[in-house]
Amino acid sequence: MHEKEQILKFFDSTISQYTSDDPFVVGWGSLDSQIVRFKVLADIGDINNCSILDLGCGVGDLYGYLEQTASGIDYYGIDFHPEMIKMAKKKYPAARFENISLEDVHEKYDYVFVSGAFNLLIEDNENYIKNWIIKTHNMAKKGVAINLLSKYAPLDKKYYNLCYYDPLYVLDFCIKKFGKVNLKHDYLPHDFTIHIYK
Ligand SMILES: C[S@@+](CC[C@H](N)C(=O)[O-])C[C@H]1O[C@@H](n2cnc3c(N)ncnc32)[C@H](O)[C@@H]1O
Repeated sequence: MHEKEQILKFFDSTISQYTSDDPFVVGWGSLDSQIVRFKVLADIGDINNCSILDLGCGVGDLYGYLEQTASGIDYYGIDFHPEMIKMAKKKYPAARFENISLEDVHEKYDYVFVSGAFNLLIEDNENYIKNWIIKTHNMAKKGVAINLLSKYAPLDKKYYNLCYYDPLYVLDFCIKKFGKVNLKHDYLPHDFTIHIYK
């Protein structure tokens, strides 16, 4: 099955079970873990008065978080699942969301944030993530923040259908390619975030 179909199918199933107020609908285990991920993404720098592209925005909760914690944000959420975008528009009517792919976005954003979009196990996660890191980097004026699941996750936190990336491999790739990079692996036992600066 093609990666996109596989990912859409996974979220068809969460959407059929949960409402947009439940973090399970986007595949997160709890509200706390969703929020701490947003906080670490936003720690990339001073994001006030910046434009932010949220790739794989789900039901738009990053918008809700930024609305409360930052000011002057020009937010744009995109997701390739049409139902997610429908729910996002309903939940946060003031925000801008679209059911499109990154290839359809033509202007660059100060920051590109990606929370959880690359978590599912697919045929070749290693190349998939490398391609996406390059694509998101091309779209950013100031930086990119991406979180991924970590191979150092405790066994009881691992699920067979998710991909646990090697943080050192991802760090090595990003440093060699882009130079200015930060890795955070201290906020959840099963997760890490990479900040890439332009
Ligand atoms: C784990 S959910 C996280 C949603 C949201 N970022 C959050 O943290 O609440 C991942 C979302 O990414 C979307 N997604 C995955 N790959 C994508 C891609 N290449 N382009 C657009 N959306 C994508 C999925 O449809 C899903 O809604």
